[in-house]
This record gives sequence, C-alpha cells and structure tokens, in this order.
Amino acid sequence: MWHIQVIHGPNLNLLGQREPEVYGRLTLAELDERLQAYAREAGIELHILQSNHEGAIVDAVQQAAGWADGVVINPGAYTHYAYAIRDAIRGVGLPAVEVHLSNVYAREPFRHTSVIAPVCLGQISGFGWHSYQLGLEALIAWLEAKSSSGIR
Ligand code: DQA
Repeated sequence: MWHIQVIHGPNLNLLGQREPEVYGRLTLAELDERLQAYAREAGIELHILQSNHEGAIVDAVQQAAGWADGVVINPGAYTHYAYAIRDAIRGVGLPAVEVHLSNVYAREPFRHTSVIAPVCLGQISGFGWHSYQLGLEALIAWLEAKSSSGIR
C-alpha cells in the first residue's frame, strides 16, 4: 500500500468562499473527503495537511520522508517564490507532484512561474479538485513503474 502526504498551502482553507469563480464552491473538507474516497478505492493511504505557514510545510515535507512514498502538493501562492519548500522537496528526495485547482498559465503573469515544479515529477494545473486526483494517479503510476522496473 502506498502512503502519500497531501499538502494544501496557504488560503486553501478558504475554499468554497474564496473567489468561487476561480476556485469553485467545493470546501476544503469536501475536497478532502473526495480524495479519501478515491484513496479507499485505490487502496492507498493519505495523510492530508493544510497550512498557511511556509515553515510548517517544510516540516511536513521533511517528516514525510520518514514514512511516505510521495507527496502531492498544492503550494498555493508559495508556488511562485518559496525556495525553502523547493529545497525541502529536493533535499528529502521524495517524489512529488505539484497541483493547482486553477490554470495558473491562464492567469496573472506572476502565477506563470513555479519554483517548485522543477523539483517535482510534474505539474497538473486547471482541473479543479480533479487536479489532486490526477496528481495522485500520476504519482501512483510512477511509484508502480519504479517498483516493478527499478527506474527512477
Ligand atoms: C493555486 C494557484 C496559486 O497561484 C494561488 O496563489 C493559490 C491557488 C491553485 O490551486 O490554483 O492559492 O495554487
């Protein structure tokens, strides 16, 4: 069974009320329930954390290295400038997938840069809450391929 840390960054606790025209009306609790339902079906274990603090996210990434097989992370606005989160992912060497609810490339220019994506397996952006499920699927596919063929 794969063990995966899901991390929601700053302001994602406001989902449902925050800019619903961009992020939709689903609350974070509802999103997490959908992810847990997917995890039950897929036979994986998810730990889910939301934090508005960069250091807490760095701590979560470092701690995940002790028990998790990988990380799915929506770094929120930290995506665009948080080198400490980038360094944590690179430093622990856990496979990670960056996800975004909105299509960041269709929005303001400052959102077109991710300092996190280069240390991730890849990035999924623009599919609402499905971005997280797609991110989990991609991570699981990568983990399965790695465990069956030894690739990395
Ligand atoms: C976001 C996109 C970021 O640019 C923004 O700061 C967020 C949410 C998304 O999921 O679309 O907080 O990560």
